[in-house]
Amino acid sequence: MPDRRSREAAFPGGERRPPTTPAPNRQIAKWNARYAAHAPGALGRPSRPLPRAVSGVPPGRALDLACGAGRHAVWLAERGWQVDAVDGSQAAVRLLLANAARTGCRERVAGHVADLEADPPEFAIPTAAYDLIVDCCFLHRPLFAAIREGVRPGGLFVAALHLPAPEAGGGHRFVLREGELAETVRAWNWDIRHCAERPAGPDSEHGLGVAEIIARRPPAG
Ligand SMILES: C[S@@+](CC[C@H](N)C(=O)[O-])C[C@H]1O[C@@H](n2cnc3c(N)ncnc32)[C@H](O)[C@@H]1O
Repeated sequence: MPDRRSREAAFPGGERRPPTTPAPNRQIAKWNARYAAHAPGALGRPSRPLPRAVSGVPPGRALDLACGAGRHAVWLAERGWQVDAVDGSQAAVRLLLANAARTGCRERVAGHVADLEADPPEFAIPTAAYDLIVDCCFLHRPLFAAIREGVRPGGLFVAALHLPAPEAGGGHRFVLREGELAETVRAWNWDIRHCAERPAGPDSEHGLGVAEIIARRPPAG
């Protein structure tokens, strides 16, 4: 079980969340309203680096941060991974679990409702617990240190995070600086297997550029 700083409670949808959750932050409230209007259904394709990262890797235990409706968590669970999926939006986690049930992999997905920006975090990533941590389209810089500790020796970190659109300028809190993701992970001395930055283009998600990384923590010993 992940090491959580607050008690968990099971809710009718099967998701877990701390029972004393304060009012959700405004960003989460916005996402919650968006997901509440969605029914379970076809999920988009996973972000590009994920299939590449796990190709040939035996399924293990994965953590999907800010999982949304589950396009990564469900994709992994369908392939035999045991997934902890965390999102601040309760509606997102309900949708995720419904999507997991719809695709027959519900027993391999644990949903957690937690504000990942809270201080202290509502979901504390347990140390050296995961064979894979996925972080796509959600940037909260303090998570990087916890991700580094949360991946087991020999495990993987996969991220696809937004870069600013040229006309938007910098400064958005969910957007990286150019080179920032690579710089951050290089400082860990992990094996960087893939690292790329793509500018915004016609097929970009959310109209933004993306920085991708696949990095492997060195095996122990
Ligand atoms: C752009 S969506 C990405 C969803 C998913 N990772 C994907 O790539 O399809 C951003 C997600 O971050 C979640 N989110 C936003 N703020 C959050 C927070 N403080 N804690 C946890 N999740 C948050 C939203 O609910 C939403 O599901």
